[in-house]
Amino acid sequence: MKLMVTGGAGFIGSNFIRYWLLKHPNDSIVNFDVLTYAGNLENLIDVMHDSRYTFVKGDVCDRDMVFEIVKDVDVVVHFAAETHVDRSIMDPNVFIKTNVIGTQHILDAVKEYQKRFHHISTDEVFGALKFGDAPFTEHTPYDPRSPYSASKAASDHMVRAYYHTFGIQMTISNCSNNYGPYMFPEKFIPLCISNLMEDKKVPVYGDGLYVRDWIHVDDHSRGVEFIVNNGTIGETYCLGGNCEMANIDVVKLLLQYMHKDESYIEYVKDRPGHDRRYAIDFTKAKNELGWEPQIKFEEGLKKMVQWYLDNQEWVERSRSGTYQEYYEKQYVIR
Ligand code: NAD
Ligand code: TYD
Repeated sequence: MKLMVTGGAGFIGSNFIRYWLLKHPNDSIVNFDVLTYAGNLENLIDVMHDSRYTFVKGDVCDRDMVFEIVKDVDVVVHFAAETHVDRSIMDPNVFIKTNVIGTQHILDAVKEYQKRFHHISTDEVFGALKFGDAPFTEHTPYDPRSPYSASKAASDHMVRAYYHTFGIQMTISNCSNNYGPYMFPEKFIPLCISNLMEDKKVPVYGDGLYVRDWIHVDDHSRGVEFIVNNGTIGETYCLGGNCEMANIDVVKLLLQYMHKDESYIEYVKDRPGHDRRYAIDFTKAKNELGWEPQIKFEEGLKKMVQWYLDNQEWVERSRSGTYQEYYEKQYVIR
């Protein structure tokens, strides 16, 4: 089988490519990525010379290029997106362009060439839970509240519209907050780890009691694998880590693992419209696909900290924005 993975140079896409190549020795992958600030080819340096892997520098908003690549693959797994909520608050434009218009080009190509399509979405499309509310399920009405989640919700609606109207062979997954290696250090957990590595404080928004459900990126990749291989066409699957944690408790674990005290906590101004709580009920994925998360948060988080400590130069290049330069010195990007 030949897969096109969009956004494969980012955090989850690169982990997914590595995971898939390991598990599926007869498959090949085209990584289609425009390399925004979050796209780092260094994330896949270990598979660069694998004959089953090809990188194509391309924008999902470039319709002709999207059609050219989709034409020659069997399955498209669509990760490419602008993903950081804080950036979407500062400038929503590129979020609409990439996440909505870009997805529509992929959908048109998938429709034209009748390819299997899996769309990667987020639990943030469901809005914010209050404490005591039941976790999100596939039946929870959409109620996005940030420009990021609104753009992802719009793309999910388009995917379903193309299924109902044109019969494309699609599935969607709505996953909770991922953590793991190669996570760009602007998101909460890697930002905290890399600040602590530099002996800096960690910025905690508002009261620190905002709750996220954390899933290890390898559990996410396995969930997507199960859906691509055995999911029912036209269906949505919620994937979660079974691990609701308040941000401040995540920070306390990190301080413990990195041998720092609580003087490194700095409460800062809250994010506008900050969603109080996310939580996922993944019963459908468990019952229909036999999927459930396997990696315990504390174990996965400890390993993530160790990975960042072992890859200090990757962290420094990511923070200074010099990773593309470093990569291009060693390899030619076609
Ligand atoms: P990321 O920001 O680390 O990576 C995004 C990748 O997409 C980058 O490599 C970037 O270069 C690429 N990209 C951006 N715009 C593009 C364009 N116009 N054309 C081609 N490539 C483009 O993101 P991530 O955290 O790995 O998230 C991947 C997907 O998973 C996204 O769709 C996101 O909404 C979804 N998701 C993320 C999380 C999470 O916790 N990070 C949780 C649930 C769902
Ligand atoms: P983030 O990693 O941006 O993911 P999302 O907003 O998509 O869930 O943030 C995770 C949580 O951490 C969220 O409640 C916001 C909070 N946060 C901080 O407290 N400080 C920070 O510097 C960042 C980036 C996030």
